[in-house]
Amino acid sequence: KVYNNYFYDEPAFNTHDGGYIPLEEPNTPAMPLNIPAALVPDKETQTDMYYTVTAQPGETQLLPGTKTKTWGYNASLLGKTIIFKNGKTIHLHLENKLPELTTFHWHGLNIPGPIEDGGCHAPVYPDSSRDVTFKINQPAATCWLHAHPCPSTASQVWHGLATAVVIQDDIESQLPFPRNYGVDDIPIILQDRRFHADNQWDYREDYDPDGVQGPTPMINGTVNPYFDVTTQRLRLRILDGSNRREWRLHFSDNLEFTQIASDDGILPEPVKFTRLMTTCAERHEIIVDFSNYQAGDEVVLYSDETPIVHFRIHEFATDNTKLPEHLVDIPDPKVDADLPVKHVVMSGMDEEVMMDDKKFDMQRIDYKMPLGKCQLWDITNTNDMDGGMIHPYHMHGTAFRIISRNGHAPYPNERGLKDVVSVNPGEHVILKVWYDVAGIFMYHCHIIEHEDGGMMAQLQVIDPQNPDAKYELMDHHTL
Ligand code: C2O
Ligand code: CU
Ligand code: CU
Repeated sequence: KVYNNYFYDEPAFNTHDGGYIPLEEPNTPAMPLNIPAALVPDKETQTDMYYTVTAQPGETQLLPGTKTKTWGYNASLLGKTIIFKNGKTIHLHLENKLPELTTFHWHGLNIPGPIEDGGCHAPVYPDSSRDVTFKINQPAATCWLHAHPCPSTASQVWHGLATAVVIQDDIESQLPFPRNYGVDDIPIILQDRRFHADNQWDYREDYDPDGVQGPTPMINGTVNPYFDVTTQRLRLRILDGSNRREWRLHFSDNLEFTQIASDDGILPEPVKFTRLMTTCAERHEIIVDFSNYQAGDEVVLYSDETPIVHFRIHEFATDNTKLPEHLVDIPDPKVDADLPVKHVVMSGMDEEVMMDDKKFDMQRIDYKMPLGKCQLWDITNTNDMDGGMIHPYHMHGTAFRIISRNGHAPYPNERGLKDVVSVNPGEHVILKVWYDVAGIFMYHCHIIEHEDGGMMAQLQVIDPQNPDAKYELMDHHTL
């Protein structure tokens, strides 16, 4: 079965209150798609890996002429790809060379909060550093690192502080997937920007409390990219790293593709599509098969009618690999009968965005939940203004399963582990939520300006072995 549906609420797609900015095809020369190098560890043992991650300012040649002032991790823009193996203990030296405070949030990693997780309570001040250690304990997935200081997450991500984090494990490595990084396994980080005078970005000028957009697609930090295809099958690790844009992806010739993984791991079975909609912070790993093309052909990836990546086909060896019908088993804990359904309500637009009728408060714990127990969470988007918007709901420090959307089955590519779910206007989505690590974790809309605007709350996951654990919570004054 091949799905030809985007699975989303069409009237809500990026059209709210006239603020939508359509993408435009860049008229600049084609550039090779930036493939970020893998971050090299400082040191490595059988069990432990040591890395330095530096948030730094730089300049990037995005358009002909003047370079654009950008930020990145160990790079001028975005960052190196960080590859972690399940079971390893990771030691990170986090450095801040930026003129303002930042944090290093490991989006999608099941690690303790609030310090290791790197949300707003773990600042790294300019010209200083912080060391954190955590163990990777989760299946292979495409996650990401991004800045998360409140309330300037949006402007820092816009400046470029976002990069792919790939988790590998022994199950994924046995599956017949392409995994030669940079050759047949590449990140596709979807972002959009507006270029102002002298090729510069201007976050303030472009500010929109419902999320900043720009007309120019920027993929892996490349404007108007092409990629040289040298294998029949290509694995794309798609990450919507834009502040607020949803992307409606499809290829030329309606080329079919197969989704193999969602946010936090491989899907139970592969799902075939010709169209894929992604909201902010979601990840979709897909395999594209170019067997019907030959050297000299070009296959184009579009969002709506705008070309965003040109795949230039070269000679490749025939590859008859078939994917198994069943890929992996997905954990499915039993809901704890003692825990009531937890309700979360996302409401408002513009400056009025709220979570459960409140604005985020760094010092307020909004909810407590026991470690290791599984609970149903019911997430509602009230659709109460101007036709509403899709709110991509995200939780730190865990992955969840999607049980239903307004009482119906989730979309076919939502049967695996997720940490972001798009909630359509007027919809309520039921999740199974459980935590394997304790601490303080944020949950919020991942339209980043909504998050900065207060559509965010935090929960404490309580370890019964250590019920009185104390956490130092920052507030806006101590920042
Ligand atoms: Cu991508 Cu609060 O996270
Ligand atoms: Cu996160
Ligand atoms: Cu939102």
